[in-house]
Amino acid sequence: MRDGISRSMHEVEEAVPMADAAELEVGTPLVVEDWDRLTFRVNREAYRSEQIFAREREAIWLRHWLYLGHETETPKPNDFVVRTLAGRPLIFCRDSGGQVRVFLNSCPHRGTVLCRETQGSSKLFQCFYHAWRFRSSGEVAAIPDEQAYEGAEDFRETMRLRVIPRLASHEGFVFVSFNPDAPPLLDYLGAAAEYLTMVQEQHDGGMQTLPGVQLYGVRGNWKLAVENAMDGYHFSPTHNTFVGYLRESGFAVTDDDQYAYNLGNGHSLLVLTGHGGRISMIWEPRFGEDERERTEAHRAEMVERLGERRAHYVGDESHILFVFPNLLLFDIEGLSIRQLEPVAADQTDVRAWQLVPRVEEAAARALRMKTVVSFVGPGGLATPDDIEAYEAVQRGINATAADARAGLDYSDMSRGMIDEVKGVQGRSIDEGAMRGFWRWWVDAVGIPGGQQSSGARPSRFLEGREMA
Ligand code: FES
Ligand SMILES: [Fe+2]
Repeated sequence: MRDGISRSMHEVEEAVPMADAAELEVGTPLVVEDWDRLTFRVNREAYRSEQIFAREREAIWLRHWLYLGHETETPKPNDFVVRTLAGRPLIFCRDSGGQVRVFLNSCPHRGTVLCRETQGSSKLFQCFYHAWRFRSSGEVAAIPDEQAYEGAEDFRETMRLRVIPRLASHEGFVFVSFNPDAPPLLDYLGAAAEYLTMVQEQHDGGMQTLPGVQLYGVRGNWKLAVENAMDGYHFSPTHNTFVGYLRESGFAVTDDDQYAYNLGNGHSLLVLTGHGGRISMIWEPRFGEDERERTEAHRAEMVERLGERRAHYVGDESHILFVFPNLLLFDIEGLSIRQLEPVAADQTDVRAWQLVPRVEEAAARALRMKTVVSFVGPGGLATPDDIEAYEAVQRGINATAADARAGLDYSDMSRGMIDEVKGVQGRSIDEGAMRGFWRWWVDAVGIPGGQQSSGARPSRFLEGREMA
């Protein structure tokens, strides 16, 4: 927990009750695993059913912790940005005392969207409809013609801006939950918390987001974005232009010794070493000689500050971290935070920010930006390929919709199941992280008969990761 953030706010609102799961009729199981044949299949209705989408919103998005944003997006008192989570418009701001606050972006009077700017700085929010004004702490500042409410005791107090039941932060990453009974954030993050800490440790002085957000809509289900991030198998074929570019600049991409981990609670991690360089951490020829010197100096500083072992984990590996259900952290090339906001079963909004060292010399920052956008930016060598993949899957699976032939309307994620049977650590180019995600997901949505498992299931899976 960091200063300036209250764990739970002064008001607690009722969480939205869940629809009766038994009302949902899916017909066939959503996830089917067969331990004799070593197959794992996902029902494609999971990507296209609006009924399942509605169920997810209730059972996942309104129950779990959601990534809201980074504390450094609102660095000064009265700074604000707007955001949407679980379809609900929000204001993410600091009050005049510098405390981080999150309000529903909805006027308590009659519900109008209150803040219509995407970001800015203001001590007051004024509703355009009847001109009620609210302080950045949520209190009512002014109500025109207020004497008309005389007699209603504590009227102003009941008209404060509405908060989200839970708000907490870990290493600058701010999470909210619409569920007052959500577990403490650190319990929820579990093993994923350590990887957020390691991000903060990358540079003495910590990290900050750069102003500006990349916002794009994808015509695909949100789970396709999760799968894609955990899918090392697609890297070389899908991003062959990028792989070729690296090869020409003197860096050979490899899939060897790279692993996928299920971290528990639906979170997962890819650990990559042969993916490509990382600014200030892993040098490669295209970064140039000046960056080589900076990288060596930074490595020495990290060893001094963190010790050799920790510096190894922080510095020598690229990570792709998924925090269930809406945060993806791409610690490759540079550091890119990605937030998923499902809009419909076949539509997802994605927001992305660059996370950079608070203290960084101008030449290094410029190289970082150029490198990051060349790969994970919306016009980079990777992101458009990946978006094309989500959208092509979403279009392609329509071919088997409602096809009654057994097993046809399923996608296969069996790759590397044999390792799970043997208790061998799964590789990043296998589909173990996806299977872990889907097992967690089907449990979270809680649809009766959602999962079908047959054959001799291994008594234990390799989960998590040992760090010395
Ligand atoms: S709805 Fe906002 S002041 Fe009336
Ligand atoms: Fe990709």
